Amino acid sequence: MICLTLMESSIELNLMVVERNRHLIDMAELRLDMLINPLEVDPCTVKLEFQLPLIITYRKKIDGGKYEGTESYRGDILYSYAKCGFDFIDLEIGSVFPEVEETALRKGTRIIRSYHNFKEVPDNLDTIIREISSKSGEIPKAAVYCSSSKEVFKFFKVFEKTKDIKDKIVLGMGEFGFPSRILYKQLGSIISYCSSSGNSGAPGQLTPGDMKNLYRVDEINNSTSVYGIIGNPVMHSHSPQLHNKAYKRAAINAVYLPFLVDDIGYFLNLAAFLNVKGFSVTVPYKVDILNFLGEQSPEIEKIKSCNTVCRKGRVWKGYNTDLDGFLMPLLSKIKTAGLKNGGLKIGSIKKGAVIGAGGAARAVITALQSLNIEITIFNRSESRGAKLAAETGVSFFPLNRIDLLSDFDIIVQTTTVGMVPEVDSTPLPEYKFRKNQIAYDIIYTPLETRFLKNAKSAGSVTIGGMAMLKTQGIRQFEIFTDRQFPSEEQKGSS
Ligand code: ATR
Repeated sequence: MICLTLMESSIELNLMVVERNRHLIDMAELRLDMLINPLEVDPCTVKLEFQLPLIITYRKKIDGGKYEGTESYRGDILYSYAKCGFDFIDLEIGSVFPEVEETALRKGTRIIRSYHNFKEVPDNLDTIIREISSKSGEIPKAAVYCSSSKEVFKFFKVFEKTKDIKDKIVLGMGEFGFPSRILYKQLGSIISYCSSSGNSGAPGQLTPGDMKNLYRVDEINNSTSVYGIIGNPVMHSHSPQLHNKAYKRAAINAVYLPFLVDDIGYFLNLAAFLNVKGFSVTVPYKVDILNFLGEQSPEIEKIKSCNTVCRKGRVWKGYNTDLDGFLMPLLSKIKTAGLKNGGLKIGSIKKGAVIGAGGAARAVITALQSLNIEITIFNRSESRGAKLAAETGVSFFPLNRIDLLSDFDIIVQTTTVGMVPEVDSTPLPEYKFRKNQIAYDIIYTPLETRFLKNAKSAGSVTIGGMAMLKTQGIRQFEIFTDRQFPSEEQKGSS
């Protein structure tokens, strides 16, 4: 069940949030500690007005809420609500309100007994859950903070030990814990919480729209194939949008989610545990992941970097779709621009300048070499530029030699300069592009960088990084699923 946590300061505002999200959620949690006056509206009227299952929660500061008053006042307010017979009432471990509990039981209200830990996943978490559930009728809830890949693996393992407890609520807080909110049913949790503005309810929380439409959490079952992307940071990634929408269009029972990772080994343990079928790899793991592959596709030998990993029998096989991702938009641009300008053909691109000398530059160089283009690297640091040039058999000049650039048919920008928020920066502020030069920037935020704007105003042909991102993702989809990427028009039924 998808539960929307209501964090507004009045009943009226919370009701408006419910109305906006009613079609996306199964229930809501009314956080009394967020209200300016919890008795502003008669609790029995609240029950009537919301018209959906509600959890009543009055959270103390120490448990992650806002309430800082006395326990007797908190008990009085909870009792006023308990008398109206809501579906659930959330009481923390250690909260002792006999009158509230008796009333709740009499009214048929289920008590959720919650445990919070904002520091770590405790070793005895399974015992804590078991002890709560042994108290007749109470639903144990554990919300614990996962601060690393190791912790999130431990968190998922704990719940293997409590599989027999049918009614429970568990969630891993923080960005490392994010997968627990999507795969909550795998953890045996009956509820996953979200909030109307994402992160405001608890760290790592999603919006109802993302839960229902993007990740389709309520459709996930034992047959759902799990895919994802690993990186650090990773939560900003566009890949979940591309893959999840494609699964929906192609009616594939699969989900794709971001995994924040600080240790690849622990992530792979988690991946085995969750039966992850494949994953994308982003910064900073494209090289480190090579140490964990049992098999590599041929292009990895050349670029020594991997952005796609797929399970093949007992091993992980690595691929690199950045090459195709880079080349296909270039080839299609040449085709369309060539129609307007007869001189622009793939064979007429003879000399290429690559700005930068990192992992992305290496992939771009390999791609351009496959088109027999002669490459020169321009890089700020001479040692790094010269090293990559020697390794890839190309020439090198320092970045300040912009006097040489007009000689090149294509200039590819592979550094991070110009990326959001530094949108007015370019590694070539002084360079004047010439007409019909091709300017390719692999940055995709913003869609048009300062580098591309300068090129465009000089009449150059420009290509932005979004096309590359999309194309490499489409190739990943095909590797993961062995299916053709569904066109935008295709409508899925799942
Ligand atoms: P990636 O693997 O994504 O390519 P990287 O390995 O960190 O990332 O490489 C970043 C590239 O951007 C490098 O070529 C770097 O130049 P240096 O080798 O001189 O560090 C380049 N870069 C980063 N910031 C830059 C800046 N302000 N001006 C020019 N080049 C810059």
